[in-house]
Amino acid sequence: MELDRESRVGVIGAGAMGTGIAQVAAAAGHRVVLGDAAEGAAQRAQAKVARNMERDVHKGRMSRDAADELMSRIEFQWEPLRGLGAYRDCGLVIEAVVEDLAVKRSLLKSVEEAVEREPVLATNTSSLAIAAIASACEAPHRVIGLHFFNPAPVMPLVEVVPWIGGDPVVASASFALMSRWGKTPALATDTPGFIVNRVARPVYGEALRLLDEGVADCATIDWAMKELGGFRMGPFELMDFIGNDVNFAVTTTVYHGMFNDPRYKPSLTQQRMVDAGFLGRKTGRGYYDYGPDAATPQPTKDPNTGLLIFERVLAMLINEAVDAVLMRVASPEAIDLAMTKGVNYPKGLLAWANELGPARVLGWLERLQAEYGEDRYRPSPLLRRMVRDDRRFFQ
Ligand code: NAI
Repeated sequence: MELDRESRVGVIGAGAMGTGIAQVAAAAGHRVVLGDAAEGAAQRAQAKVARNMERDVHKGRMSRDAADELMSRIEFQWEPLRGLGAYRDCGLVIEAVVEDLAVKRSLLKSVEEAVEREPVLATNTSSLAIAAIASACEAPHRVIGLHFFNPAPVMPLVEVVPWIGGDPVVASASFALMSRWGKTPALATDTPGFIVNRVARPVYGEALRLLDEGVADCATIDWAMKELGGFRMGPFELMDFIGNDVNFAVTTTVYHGMFNDPRYKPSLTQQRMVDAGFLGRKTGRGYYDYGPDAATPQPTKDPNTGLLIFERVLAMLINEAVDAVLMRVASPEAIDLAMTKGVNYPKGLLAWANELGPARVLGWLERLQAEYGEDRYRPSPLLRRMVRDDRRFFQ
């Protein structure tokens, strides 16, 4: 399995992700072909990469020659794709089209029919099972998940997701390639939400639960997580930024994907925000009002409430990370790397567990479970084991 600089890289889908991925591949020295089914998408992608290059040159991060060279390595398919002949000699094809299982299955099958050699077929899906996409192919062992984060040229993390029928050589070659592209690859199993979209769920879910119970308002919860937790954005600011529709869809997918485990149960409040069209920044209103005359709500900076909020959300986050280790979603190292490099957490959650001591985190969870009697708060068996054996992660 050769995936070197000489390999031509095909990217299908010239939206937000495909455009970024094409830029990353070209920056790593590959010749790239980028196409889209929609009229004008490739032109917009070309303009976007050109703007990114212009900014890099302006800021002195890149010479004009290097920027021109990078641009010249990407072949933008100006005509909407009708066939996939342009991808014929690619060694790696990455699809970043709409998040729809049927579309992705039929697309990868068509890629197989169009190519001359045997490329690695990667999907950038954020929520679909790689197995469900791969099983449409004639040679499914060549399919792998390569989950980039938005914006791809900036965010270092790529989750590398092999599936049960995948060729281990494809996985190791893809992992090595992502490192050569300057990315931070994290190996994850083909489970709902992979690492980041699973382990991050409680930051939204528990914040919404606190809001629903009237423990505090959005501004206070956001303040507590930033001030006491060191998170760059509060949960509600973040949901408004991501879009409540997108965030709700991920939560629902993970919940159903985990066979309705109550730990991932979506919030009715978020459902109503979506129903109302209060999707966040993009619609001018979400948990906050982004209108020109809107007043900025002020947090109630009560230290006791702040601590209660922070400890409850952090306990749930650490529990989720520990359980992901137990269920072998990824190694402890990959989980901490994913949360710090993919979503900018101030610390790895397992390193955080070490620092606080697993017994303290277990105590928080046991109190919550005793108070609510809900399975949602059940401590991971691995957390109990760590306490029993007085162990720490990474030892
Ligand atoms: P987008 O909507 O910006 O772009 C998707 C593009 O695919 C569109 O330009 C559309 O015309 C094109 N397309 C649809 N069907 C096609 C087909 N059959 N052949 C060729 N082109 C086709 O979407 P975005 O955000 O770039 O997402 C793409 C994929 O990446 C999805 O699977 C998404 O779940 C995943 N993803 C998105 C992230 C994000 O933050 N936006 C992060 C990580 C993964």
